Amino acid sequence: MEKNHTHNHHHKKLEHNLHQQEHQHHIQFPSTTVLMIVIPIIIIILLLSILLLIIMLRRLQFSKENVARTSSKVRSSLNNRNCLFIAHSSITITSSPEMDGGCLYSSTGSSTQTSQSKLKGVQVFTYKELEMATEGFSEANVIGTGGYGVVYRGTLSDGTVAAIKMLRRQGKQGERAFRLEVDLLSRLQSPYLVELLGYCADEHHRLLIFEFMPNGPLQHHLHSTSKNQNKPLNWGTRLRIALDCARALEYLHEYTTPSVIHRDFKCTNILLDENYKAKVSDFGLAKIGSDKLNGLISTRVLGTTGYLAPEYASTGKLTTKSDVYSYGVVLLELLTGRVPIDTQRPPGEHVLVSWALPRLTNREEVVKMVDPAIHAQFPNKDLIQVAAIAAMCIQTEADYRPLMTDVVQSLVPLVKNYSSGSSSISNSYRFTPRVSPRSSS
Ligand SMILES: Nc1ncnc2c1ncn2[C@@H]1O[C@H](COP(=O)(O)OP(=O)(O)OP(=O)(O)O)[C@@H](O)[C@H]1O
Ligand SMILES: [Mg+2]
Repeated sequence: MEKNHTHNHHHKKLEHNLHQQEHQHHIQFPSTTVLMIVIPIIIIILLLSILLLIIMLRRLQFSKENVARTSSKVRSSLNNRNCLFIAHSSITITSSPEMDGGCLYSSTGSSTQTSQSKLKGVQVFTYKELEMATEGFSEANVIGTGGYGVVYRGTLSDGTVAAIKMLRRQGKQGERAFRLEVDLLSRLQSPYLVELLGYCADEHHRLLIFEFMPNGPLQHHLHSTSKNQNKPLNWGTRLRIALDCARALEYLHEYTTPSVIHRDFKCTNILLDENYKAKVSDFGLAKIGSDKLNGLISTRVLGTTGYLAPEYASTGKLTTKSDVYSYGVVLLELLTGRVPIDTQRPPGEHVLVSWALPRLTNREEVVKMVDPAIHAQFPNKDLIQVAAIAAMCIQTEADYRPLMTDVVQSLVPLVKNYSSGSSSISNSYRFTPRVSPRSSS
């Protein structure tokens, strides 16, 4: 019985051992197979997740770059005034006039868009806002009409009085001029340039909003018509206006990179503030100068007859020196009170430049050329110097014309002799003898 029991026990043990062996054998076999399958899967998953991570990182980087690019584009398109002054000698206008920059288009009339679009400086207006500012673009608010459309006087919602220029629909050409003007004006800022306050590009409407210049264009003060009967400007004011304009062109030509050529510098584009300080307006025809091809730009001839430099009129070759020529014509107008082309005058005197050029270097003739309204307001020495500057500017050979910086330098000492406090109107001002440098300091 005991033997039987022992045998049974032995048998069970053996059976158990066998079971264990069998079990061990059973476990060992699948674990290696599983490992062989699992390890590559883990490796594949790891590789995939690394790949995914790389893709996500790249996407993130790309979107960041995009945001930076877009914001810098917006900033440079609309709000680049700060950088202009910092980079006094290196204003870089990155966009070409023909660019398809997206800075212009406001939404079609939502007022929330307007307030959101209010970037420092140039503001986006809706057509409705401008309609309200000008009492429905009423006739009574019309200041003038130019080549590009009607200009209205308007009061903006914050009380600012502005000049609102409604551009005619002119197809692609007008569109380009509008883009160009907004683009340029929003970037260029100088106390000698009429400031662009904002613009409107609602649907087909294109309007530019400028600071209002209460004394209007120089034209109205130099050449009176039945409509404009302003008293003639005195010599001191004329000199200061000449200097302000020279500084405006100096800024465009020499403190901007690439140079900006005004292309339509003339008396109606010189506007006067309440103190007869002059600012230059209208960059609608301006073109960014190119430093390629020796600074020459071949382009369609634009501008106003009587002010066009001969090489520009005949060949369309445009340089900053064509503005210098136009400046010389304005200087002649200030000096003589004559308009650039006057067919009412005797033969030989129709074209101001042709009539003036041979006389400018003749002392006796110069005195005779002066606007009768300002006779005896200045010493002849000053007159001769101004005549010499004008003669240099209107030379046929563009290369011999001075730089606007030279003109500024020549005018500064002359203007210093006329105190800014004096009245701007002729007859209320008389020449006072020069104060010696010592006593004036
Ligand atoms: N910012 C302003 N402040 C006051 N008056 C202005 C302003 N801008 C324009 N004007 C007035 O509107 C008139 C028309 O201006 P506009 O610039 O459209 O034409 P223009 O200078 O006469 O000729 P062009 O089209 O060749 O420039 C000007 O003569 C001036 O009287
Ligand atoms: Mg104008």
